[in-house]
Amino acid sequence: MGLYSSVIFPHVLDWMMGNDFLAGYRRDLLADARGEVLEVGFGTGVNLQYYPAQIRKITTVDPNPGMNRIVERRIAAAPVAVEKRLIAAEKLPMPDGTFDTVVSTFAMCSIPNASEALAQIHRVLKPGGRLLFLEHGLSPDPRVQTWQHRLTPISKIIGGGCHLNRDIPKLVQTQPFNMQALDQFNLERAPRVAGFLSRGIAAKD
Ligand SMILES: C[S@@+](CC[C@H](N)C(=O)[O-])C[C@H]1O[C@@H](n2cnc3c(N)ncnc32)[C@H](O)[C@@H]1O
Repeated sequence: MGLYSSVIFPHVLDWMMGNDFLAGYRRDLLADARGEVLEVGFGTGVNLQYYPAQIRKITTVDPNPGMNRIVERRIAAAPVAVEKRLIAAEKLPMPDGTFDTVVSTFAMCSIPNASEALAQIHRVLKPGGRLLFLEHGLSPDPRVQTWQHRLTPISKIIGGGCHLNRDIPKLVQTQPFNMQALDQFNLERAPRVAGFLSRGIAAKD
């Protein structure tokens, strides 16, 4: 991992993802978190402040050590116990059926093998457990799509591996999830190439 990815990018990401205009979306999504929680692509820990009070412990996975350096102050201030793991979501070491809730916010764009990560997420969820996701991805507008395809090679370089053009619901449905809720919309204050969001709840039956 180079200097940009491990030192500079985590600060850029923290500034972008900590933005207030995403706060309401994060809070609404996390209101449905229950029991033992796993958060994938934890980043700089922006979500910690939005978990409901009844959550006792969150396990987090993210392979970028730069993220982990920034996140320490948020973990120290969190009212919840956090077990931080410096590992990739495609290779989760936890036993089958460990978690009640898995959370993924703006992570599926950056995880290199998102289908494998989703297979692992499905495996580590308990039966009845749920994946809560809030992700940007492929727009339904063909003109926006064209630019998303054009700009993804650049976004992958400057955005920590971020693909602008992933079809998030389709990716989630590569695994045997039951999609209980799905809401898709354009974020008002974001460029169209990065502002088409999918917010959903996918359950393991
Ligand atoms: C755009 S950031 C989102 C951070 C955070 N979830 C948020 O909502 O602000 C994407 C995160 O995915 C992480 N990531 C990249 N590859 C990953 C992998 N294989 N497994 C888990 N996380 C990964 C990156 O290190 C980065 O922290």
